[in-house]
Amino acid sequence: MMTKINTIEINNNHYNKKCGTHVFNKHLIPNTQNIPEGKALNITIEEYSFLVTKQQGKIIAYENLCPHQKKPLDDASEPALDPEGDYLKCHHHGALFSPQDGSCITGPCQGSHLKKATIGIEQGNCYLLWA
Ligand code: FES
Repeated sequence: MMTKINTIEINNNHYNKKCGTHVFNKHLIPNTQNIPEGKALNITIEEYSFLVTKQQGKIIAYENLCPHQKKPLDDASEPALDPEGDYLKCHHHGALFSPQDGSCITGPCQGSHLKKATIGIEQGNCYLLWA
């Protein structure tokens, strides 16, 4: 049975917490207050890459993996957002994703979604929780 998690309590800087069938790894996202609105920050946690973006003041994170061919959306020469900062963009075949819900609005994987990471806030610090 799948357990829906609405609230995740955060107490330590790095730990595993068992919640139903999920185990979350908690990682501090440094300097989230310095992420400009409409920009994306690429962070690597263990073997995973994430895109952390600020949209209308809210921090949102997705696994940096395009559902089309399971490749990273960005690369060293091209940022993960379109030039206007409105959509996350895969540089391989141009798929555009809504930064609000990760849905692909145009491109070869239209209708699919980026995998969203859970964000937790504790004492002004922002944490990424990943199962
Ligand atoms: S791998 Fe992303 S659009 Fe093809």
